[in-house]
Amino acid sequence: METNIKTVHYLGSKARMLPVIKEYVDELNSVNGKVCDLFCGSGVVSEFLLQQYDILAVDIQNYSSVYCKARLTGGIPGIDIKQIESEIRNLPIRKKNLDYYKELLRYENKCMKDLVDGHLEPMYEIIEKGSLYAYLGKYDYIEGAMSSELEEAFTDVKNRIGTEAESVDSAVTRYYGGLYFSFKQAIDIDAIAAYAFLQDEPLKSKVLAALMGATTDVVNTVGKQFAQPLKVRNADGTLKKNLSKKIKADREIDVFEKFNIWMHYYTERPQNRHAFEVICDDYINVLKKLSPGEVEVIYADPPYTRYHYSRYYHILETLCLHDTPKISTTFPNGKGGLSRAIYRNDRHQSPFCIKSKAPKAFDELFKYAQKAQTSIVLSYSPFDEKSGATPRLMSIDEILAIARKYYTDVEVVSPGQFMHSRFNRQDNNYEINYEAERLIICRK
Ligand SMILES: C[S@@+](CC[C@H](N)C(=O)[O-])C[C@H]1O[C@@H](n2cnc3c(N)ncnc32)[C@H](O)[C@@H]1O
Repeated sequence: METNIKTVHYLGSKARMLPVIKEYVDELNSVNGKVCDLFCGSGVVSEFLLQQYDILAVDIQNYSSVYCKARLTGGIPGIDIKQIESEIRNLPIRKKNLDYYKELLRYENKCMKDLVDGHLEPMYEIIEKGSLYAYLGKYDYIEGAMSSELEEAFTDVKNRIGTEAESVDSAVTRYYGGLYFSFKQAIDIDAIAAYAFLQDEPLKSKVLAALMGATTDVVNTVGKQFAQPLKVRNADGTLKKNLSKKIKADREIDVFEKFNIWMHYYTERPQNRHAFEVICDDYINVLKKLSPGEVEVIYADPPYTRYHYSRYYHILETLCLHDTPKISTTFPNGKGGLSRAIYRNDRHQSPFCIKSKAPKAFDELFKYAQKAQTSIVLSYSPFDEKSGATPRLMSIDEILAIARKYYTDVEVVSPGQFMHSRFNRQDNNYEINYEAERLIICRK
């Protein structure tokens, strides 16, 4: 069974638990029936299980569907990745954007040189106040005046871009350029996205997934997710000098170099012997539509902290929707300035991340899974106060109590014990501490 599945930076990814998850799925699936990966996220579990089973992969986020389609479809023989790069570099919209943004690109270059010379302020200002989206839309954003140099560069873009100020062709550059990426990187990201949307499947999803890989590799944030741009100041208002190396290193990464590496991965997949379907929807809608016996086992890996995935990956969602979203304000009633992180207004709020809603969300999961006559392997992570981890929304005991309303045969296992007993002696790669995870097994 292939385990060298290339992972993506994804919170709660089960990439390192694939053999143990499969062991329990196998045990519950003596008939080799279809497996549903109900909160499939990065798609690594689906990809692993597809080697043996038909798969139904479900997640509410569009970017997750793209990851899954890219992972689950076989490779594209004969593809010329260098040729694709050259076509993207020569796309008219890239050339147009390089022209519209040329003053800003020149100014950004100068700021990078200043940074290297120890003059941090101009580059830090780009990260802090450089939202072109806020500037063009005259929205309230970060308080405090902008330097005349940055304002001049922005005004130049505004004058050149004219009626295209709301075009999707430069959405990433306008919304997230400066804050999360260099403007140069953002223009390349926009070009690759435009190319993806000119393609048919399966190339479209493969290009988008490779783009998400590259975007994650280059993003200039702590932890390589998109929850917020770097905070460049200390509490007393002074600049954080120790960030300058990271700022330089991240912003100089070549988007195409990373994109090509991911393209090789997604286009050089083995062909599948099993069928799959990817659905972008709420788990409850999918469960309600399952006919009894259609799915043999559900692997369920819902979120377990109050942090919504849509907050961490809002930029990937925008890439995959290829749209120009409304941006949320700091107060829900529309008053107040734009959210500093330029979040989409329509971000999904998962009931699993809301204390008052999580018990009902689990109840419905078990109820409809039982109606569909499926067994369940559910991942959850108990809260260890000493570890400094984010508190969990539910305890394992609370989840067990709900599960037992619908299933009589319910058991909790610790993948840690499992790994130690079955894998350590064979493979040192599994010497990881899995004590932070539990699997709840519900046999139908
Ligand atoms: C812990 S992650 C899954 C990680 C995945 N197993 C992996 O290895 O990459 C939880 C996932 O649940 C999804 N999710 C949250 N609420 C959902 C809902 N109501 N319906 C479907 N998916 C949801 C999130 O988008 C996120 O991708």
